[in-house]
Amino acid sequence: MPTAKPPMASALRQLESRCQRPSASRSSWGAPVLIERFQPELVIASGDLSHRGREDQLANASRFLHGLARPVLAVPGNHDIPHTFPARFTRAFRGFERQWQTSEPTYSSPTLHVIGLNSVRPWRHQSGGIRNNQLAQARERLRDAQPAAFQIVVLHHHLIGAPWRSRKKPVARRNHVLASLVAAGADLILAGHIHQAAVSERHEFEISRGGERGVVVSVAPGLGQPRPKRQGEARGLHVYEIEETWLRVQTYVWMDTDWGLTAERQFPRGRQPLASEPA
Ligand SMILES: [Fe+2]
Repeated sequence: MPTAKPPMASALRQLESRCQRPSASRSSWGAPVLIERFQPELVIASGDLSHRGREDQLANASRFLHGLARPVLAVPGNHDIPHTFPARFTRAFRGFERQWQTSEPTYSSPTLHVIGLNSVRPWRHQSGGIRNNQLAQARERLRDAQPAAFQIVVLHHHLIGAPWRSRKKPVARRNHVLASLVAAGADLILAGHIHQAAVSERHEFEISRGGERGVVVSVAPGLGQPRPKRQGEARGLHVYEIEETWLRVQTYVWMDTDWGLTAERQFPRGRQPLASEPA
């Protein structure tokens, strides 16, 4: 199997406030530095590209992401739809789709097959969900993957909890959604929403009966500046490196002037563990 170049996933938070400050150079923000260094096959933005879902905010985010000069796959977050009634219900995703054409994108190559799911529910402010017909479609969409492609599902609302303070609930029917995506063939499930990095492999939280495929569930930290009341939350992103037998997840955090690699975790692909010790 050919080695996949690493896709990069990041949740972009309050990107618009950054883009509205023309004096701030891109290099000071830093994401392009890592893009240049890793040359990822794909950049993934797991939602909340804007603050209030305004057209100008979404356009700024789109301009920034497309300026990275790599393929980008973006899904909407709960902040990417109009904040006020009636637009919130009558044209919830129009602004997002004007920038990104669809709220459920697909990226497919010989090495990667990535599908985005729209977990935003306009009648809810924070919580999200995936309907059964979306899960059925996800199964079909993953079936379209090229034979050796690594399969990634992206949605905004998280499937595993935050390591630190957060009252945000995971995606509705979390167990059902997770089990469905695993059964559909996902190798890696990405989310955002809680602005904190969390990564786990199913064998770390699910009893093994033997022979289960490894599936990694990941939440990206927020890339944008946290809101004032959220001082103390890290800014960062994940870099995923995919090889034939393993997947490595690196967490980079922004340290005012440069990126710090603060965590590196490696997980097995397929059905075998990274290593085993005889009893
Ligand atoms: Fe969110």
